[in-house]
Amino acid sequence: MELHILEHSLKVASIAKEGIQICTHGLIKLAFLPSKTREGAFSAIKQAKPAIKELDKHFKILEYQSTSSLYSAHDHCDQSLWKQSLFGLLFESGFVHLCKFFSLTETPEDYTIIVDEDGFKELPESEFLSVADATWLALNVVSGGGNATSSQPIGVTKIAKSVIAPLADHNISVFMLSTYQTDFILVRERDLPMVMHTLSSEFTLLRVVNGETVAANMPRPIIHPLSSPSNMFCVTSLDPDTLPSVATLLMDVMFYSGGAKDSTALSEDSGHIRFFSFSLIEGYISLVMDEQTTRRFPNNVLFTSASGELWKMVRIGGQPLGFDECGIVAQISEPLATADIPAYYISTFKFDHALVPEENIQSVIGALRTNECTGQ
Ligand code: ARG
Repeated sequence: MELHILEHSLKVASIAKEGIQICTHGLIKLAFLPSKTREGAFSAIKQAKPAIKELDKHFKILEYQSTSSLYSAHDHCDQSLWKQSLFGLLFESGFVHLCKFFSLTETPEDYTIIVDEDGFKELPESEFLSVADATWLALNVVSGGGNATSSQPIGVTKIAKSVIAPLADHNISVFMLSTYQTDFILVRERDLPMVMHTLSSEFTLLRVVNGETVAANMPRPIIHPLSSPSNMFCVTSLDPDTLPSVATLLMDVMFYSGGAKDSTALSEDSGHIRFFSFSLIEGYISLVMDEQTTRRFPNNVLFTSASGELWKMVRIGGQPLGFDECGIVAQISEPLATADIPAYYISTFKFDHALVPEENIQSVIGALRTNECTGQ
């Protein structure tokens, strides 16, 4: 069985009965006017040249702000600009829309609207409109075989045991929309890593990207909170023969950091953290310290790679991580490996620390954040 993760980013909204009038314009558009891709709209325009004359008239009447840019682009035969302006006009003036997912359900309480981001733009801001704050993604189970016999369950019973129950067991909130054609299971976008993790054993996970169905690579959900201190770090070494010459300095760094001038000036609030690691293993020395600390060493004592690389830290853990849980290192290192980003990783008694090249920190944080599961 396949589980398709559709690409629409959905909003769930409620429109109060007494406020429906102010939304009807947008809702009618979404329900009755065809949805077009940008390209689709252009070819429709081409085929309907006579209609453009009509539009011209219409725009003149509306005295549309950008009408003049449309005309000048046309006059100067700038085809792409003309197309773009024309599309802008058609779009803004409501002749086309880009919405691909729209559902309206009236109940005694209100109207419930489920709509993608493009369609959401058609709804006015109003006191009558309440919007659930999360963005939702629609999942859809596609069974391989296809020819249903009468004994097979239909609708939500078909997916109750394989999808609905496991998600419930993992504390993942869902929102259902059954239609004549299929059943959509909506999950919060931020829960997706956990959803995929939960359902990956039962299903082939496929994601729709730009209309194409592709294999969804399953990220490991990141369980523990992440933080990134502002210090930059060096991973370095020194020749054991020079150790005596820097022994007092090293002792100072190791044991008296709290008293050192430059480290008291840097409080944890400013994002700096105290982190220093010394290893002497089978005669080899390794040092991890922040950039400020390296400046206290005499020149040419610390080994520096030709590039003199600086590293930024991702610190993992809110509560102490303990020693039994598995997968924490994998949650961090796997996405880094996929993105081809080198990293060091140091576990300490309470927390874990990954070091990534300074220039990659933003993309690393970005990538890891998407895997973060904010639930419990
Ligand atoms: N045990 C964790 C894992 O398998 C890594 C260590 C976390 N614990 C710690 N005290 N730093 O991924």
